[in-house]
Amino acid sequence: FPKNTEVKNNRLVIGGADVAGLCAKYGTPLYVFDEATIRQNCRDFKREFSRRYADSSVSYASKAFLHPALLKILAEEGMSLDVVSGGELSIASSAGFPMDMVYFHGNNKSADELRLALRLHVGRIVVDSFDEIKLLSKLADESGHIPDILLRLTPGVDAHTHHHITTGKLDSKFGFPLFQAAEAVGLAMAQASLNLVGFHFHIGSQIFETQPFLDAIDLVLEFAAQVQERYGFDIEELDIGGGYGVQYEVDKPAPQVSVYAEAIGAKIVSKCHSLKLTPPSLNIEPGRAVIAQAGVALYTVGVIKDIPGIRVYASVDGGMGDNIRPALYEAKYEAVVANNVQSSEKQKVTVAGKFCESGDILITDIELPVLKTGDILAVPCCGAYCLPMSSNYNGYQRPAVVMLKNGEDRLIRRRETVEDLSRLDSV
Ligand code: LLP
Repeated sequence: FPKNTEVKNNRLVIGGADVAGLCAKYGTPLYVFDEATIRQNCRDFKREFSRRYADSSVSYASKAFLHPALLKILAEEGMSLDVVSGGELSIASSAGFPMDMVYFHGNNKSADELRLALRLHVGRIVVDSFDEIKLLSKLADESGHIPDILLRLTPGVDAHTHHHITTGKLDSKFGFPLFQAAEAVGLAMAQASLNLVGFHFHIGSQIFETQPFLDAIDLVLEFAAQVQERYGFDIEELDIGGGYGVQYEVDKPAPQVSVYAEAIGAKIVSKCHSLKLTPPSLNIEPGRAVIAQAGVALYTVGVIKDIPGIRVYASVDGGMGDNIRPALYEAKYEAVVANNVQSSEKQKVTVAGKFCESGDILITDIELPVLKTGDILAVPCCGAYCLPMSSNYNGYQRPAVVMLKNGEDRLIRRRETVEDLSRLDSV
């Protein structure tokens, strides 16, 4: 839950706001975000990394959740931004986010997307393939703007996370495998319209160990030393991506930011020293670890089905349409009854969504106060990768979103209506 969550009169209160009261006001399903938690997470990352590695910056990975109100907070906190499409880039640009603080990623950026990035003078374009080096070089030449680029490398380490969210292995659609990367450096350096400044890698998401990061840093800095010798290329920037874990389950705490920062900072310093490299500036790209905890999903309990001796299903008014993570990654969540937090009468239930899929189960077998229809279920840690991966499946109208600040609530995204469902269609 957000940092300033408490229980008052057996009811859940976030940032001074009574959660069930918010549901009465805005309806459910509802997503609430706590501004203070977002700011504190940004500050934690900036402070902990700059303490251990002075020349560092923190980019928020906007795929985790993107909204103009969030962009304003991020800009105020001095965060950079990671975008992966012309769409995300356009949202950031329209919100007035500083374009020189933007890193543009993607394994298949279109010519139009690259032209947009060139026109907006984004800070860095992270180039992912040989084809992209050639395409971007041509487009940059036409535009007359020489972009600073990083090459994305796949160092070939296993981040020990779910296979759908591991990205650093050699057999990956992302980036250059190390054995082809020298060739990519040569090609990039040969382009007068591109300015190669360094390397990027991202090894996966929800990583609880520091070792995979350290292994990847070893490999990429060794590679940097090789290309320095071969081409005289000096790495100025190292971007080690995101992937810092968060706690979804009561008994699975994630490492503190300081733990990652300590290990990573020390590793870069010592490795550069032993390779006689000038230490590059460091950029990290946390998405989940900035926003997950700040967001809470709220649902109303509807049908309760008891199959004696087998299972009790409690169905809620959302599900895979707003949170596909349990169905897609077997992601685990906890829940609290917002209007009845603690009770001596407990029951094991399975929280099901309302979608026409047997796999639409949000939480399997959770111990909760005995539920009744109309109860409000609060699912913590839903700030990341829920709304951005949401859909209109089964004619679902995506939830409203509320931002909490100093005990005040404001609607930052209205609930979709049935009219919205066919607004793009014509007969
Ligand atoms: N940088 C790059 C290049 C990335 O591809 C990603 C995430 C991040 C940073 C941020 O990673 P984070 O710090 O949030 O772990 N939909 C999946 C997660 C996919 C992550 C994709 N890339 C999920 O719901 O678990």
